Amino acid sequence: MKILLLGSGGREHALALKLKASAQLVDLVAAPGSDALAELGDRAALDLEDPASVAAWCAANHPDLVVAGPEVPLVAGVADAVRSLGIPVFGHDAATARLEGSKAFAKAFMQRHHIPCAASHTITELAAGEALIRTWSYGFPIVLKADGLAAGKGVVLAMSEAEALATFRAFMAGQFGEASKTVVFEAPLVGMELSLHVLVDVDAEHATYALLPACQDHKRIFDGDQGPNTGGMGAFGPLPFLRAEDIELMRTTLVEPTVLGLQKDGLMARGVLFLGVMWTASGPELLEYNVRFGDPETQVLMQLLDEDLAALLLEVAEGRLVARDLKLKPHTAIAVVLAAEGYPEGAKKGVSITIGSPAVTVIHAGTRKQAGQWLTNGGRVLNLATSAPDLATARAAIEAALPQVNWPGRQVRRDIGLKALKHAQAGKTVQDPW
Ligand code: AMP
Ligand code: GLY
Repeated sequence: MKILLLGSGGREHALALKLKASAQLVDLVAAPGSDALAELGDRAALDLEDPASVAAWCAANHPDLVVAGPEVPLVAGVADAVRSLGIPVFGHDAATARLEGSKAFAKAFMQRHHIPCAASHTITELAAGEALIRTWSYGFPIVLKADGLAAGKGVVLAMSEAEALATFRAFMAGQFGEASKTVVFEAPLVGMELSLHVLVDVDAEHATYALLPACQDHKRIFDGDQGPNTGGMGAFGPLPFLRAEDIELMRTTLVEPTVLGLQKDGLMARGVLFLGVMWTASGPELLEYNVRFGDPETQVLMQLLDEDLAALLLEVAEGRLVARDLKLKPHTAIAVVLAAEGYPEGAKKGVSITIGSPAVTVIHAGTRKQAGQWLTNGGRVLNLATSAPDLATARAAIEAALPQVNWPGRQVRRDIGLKALKHAQAGKTVQDPW
């Protein structure tokens, strides 16, 4: 089975490792890929923002399946272009990818389908936004979101009126180009954040989905949720304090209305939806949709999934997903990010990495290989991932592996999953204050 995998980071390396472990022989091509991905297959130098170039490669090379890692190619229409050739794609059409590509579109979708979410206003005029800030009645922080894709930097939680005004004016002046000239203002939600991934297969005739275990990411750079936001410093799942009825509540209030809403709106979905959820005092509310797997959540999910990934993704891509409980290892998995010196503001590249033989999975996110030596080549450099019967054991396995994968300036959080572990050990549930 020939698979074209779009992307180059840790999420894609984790997907690639799992695809290669499928029962059938997988001939993998990663575009643009990385040196680590090249060890699992070939690379193709494709521009993921150019649907025509990806489609031309597919027309010439006939992959059996295309798997999209990041959102950018989906928003650009790569899945539409490849699907029009009759090639199965795990990844949504551009129309559906707007759920991530436009915050205003996503909020209108949530409201139209009665999905619990923060109160919001979509603003396109400077005067209207300034007036909204001056008469803001939802309390602080004022949440401002650039409508379009802004490389993860388009959401600001403004702690004062002055900060909100400055942020809003910068957005409207084109801080993120056209992406920030429409701004979604949201009331602040308080609670515990979690990541819920769902495989979805929706068209006019049918609508099926399969839930993956809920995970939790750790966005701040330092232990104890201190310091600036990052792309994610580590994740684990499933959550030890989430009961079956809590998952059921998310299924009925968030997931099902989403799947049925897609169908009602005539949107086709063949891929994954990643729901950013805030569990508030009044229950789960939807923060956002992503139309791709999370990073580093994927690294966790691939540890837990006890299915043939190539067969499963093809099932979704061919529009024949059978709604079911996916087979999972009865384990808790954890993925810890090893980040470069200077991250998240910058990243010191070209530093030699020592990689011993740790007893956990080593996933490459931002590395390159030169004369047989791995070097840092991005902010999030490597991930260590593993699973064990419980979270404490999984955490201990990562701790034991940390000295084996190192370089000068390495940054790593040592508390991934720790707050959740204490919450569960204290007998608290998701309903209790986080
Ligand atoms: P988003 O890309 O919309 O998920 O926003 C990025 C991050 O900002 C989320 O992961 C939350 O931590 C935070 N956030 C977004 N919306 C809100 C909100 N309405 N209230 C509180 N925090 C939020
Ligand atoms: N880990 C969060 C994300 O992938 O957006």
